[in-house]
Amino acid sequence: MSYALTPFEAEVIERHDETPDLFSLQLRLTDATRQAQYRFVPGQFNMLYLPGMGEVPISIVSDPEDRHVINHTIRKVGSVTDNLGKLQVGDRLGLRGPYGRGWPIDAAEGTDLVVVTGGLGCAPSVSFIEYALRRQSRYGHIHIIQGVKHAHDFIWRERYELWRTYPDVDVWLTADTGDTLWPGKVGPVTQFFDQLSIAPQRTSVIMCGPEGMMNAVVRDMRQRNVPDTQIWLSMERNMHCAIGSCGRCQLGAKFVCRDGPVFNFAELAPYWGHKGV
Ligand SMILES: Cc1cc2nc3c(=O)[nH]c(=O)nc-3n(C[C@H](O)[C@H](O)[C@H](O)COP(=O)(O)OP(=O)(O)OC[C@H]3O[C@@H](n4cnc5c(N)ncnc54)[C@H](O)[C@@H]3O)c2cc1C
Ligand code: FES
Repeated sequence: MSYALTPFEAEVIERHDETPDLFSLQLRLTDATRQAQYRFVPGQFNMLYLPGMGEVPISIVSDPEDRHVINHTIRKVGSVTDNLGKLQVGDRLGLRGPYGRGWPIDAAEGTDLVVVTGGLGCAPSVSFIEYALRRQSRYGHIHIIQGVKHAHDFIWRERYELWRTYPDVDVWLTADTGDTLWPGKVGPVTQFFDQLSIAPQRTSVIMCGPEGMMNAVVRDMRQRNVPDTQIWLSMERNMHCAIGSCGRCQLGAKFVCRDGPVFNFAELAPYWGHKGV
């Protein structure tokens, strides 16, 4: 195993059950020097490793300025994520990363941000939103649009409420299926776009979630003349090495682990909509 593929030991510092199948782990590398040196850009991911089980790519949700912990929010969908869900405070696992290209924190400077997320798609965008809110003078208005399948899938209610209190920030929530306590609308995320004032050349669209949702947002934003180079998507593919050498995560001529997971639409357009690419 090459050094680049060696996981480092991390300890679970805190865990929270967000919903029955969704949980968050706060991790810290057990080597204090390595933890102090750990840096990431919002939108990057780690490979989390359980010996004898396997390894999975998981986005980093932390505040990039918090040097003490590395946060992840994970949905139990299969063998590795189910077993990560059994970890308790004090348990240890392997962690390597950060990997990939994160959100366009520099390229988006000076523009309004439209952050559209679907389901757990909010995970990789959270650290970008926190980053931009701490540097609001560098960005314009921030529109945060979150869609979920069911009202009960909506996690981090307090976080969204807090974001809403910032000047020049608006928060829009929608669910495919609401309930009586649901504070948002019912329907697709695109329903809000007519109410946003979008200056296409001064807007960056940041999105993450199911590809069907991202497709609808791309279509709408292109119709509004937002340039393809200002529409950013975080893509998911199965991964193995995470360093651009095994080809498992190939998307056309790109490797999601190395060239992404964040791409602008100009980069994805040649492959977009082609089955199996
Ligand atoms: C860059 C990146 C960031 C990610 N960030 C997160 C995150 O923050 N939180 C989170 O919960 N998950 C995230 N994922 C997805 C996560 O990696 C998969 O859910 C995980 O690998 C499933 O492993 P498993 O062994 O538990 O399930 P498996 O038994 O491997 O798979 C169970 C089911 O999930 C599907 N699946 C497996 N891997 C993926 C994948 N990469 N993309 C889409 N479907 C998949 C399989 O086809 C199967 O249907 C991310 C994936 C990528 C590529
Ligand atoms: S996971 Fe190996 S090339 Fe991307």
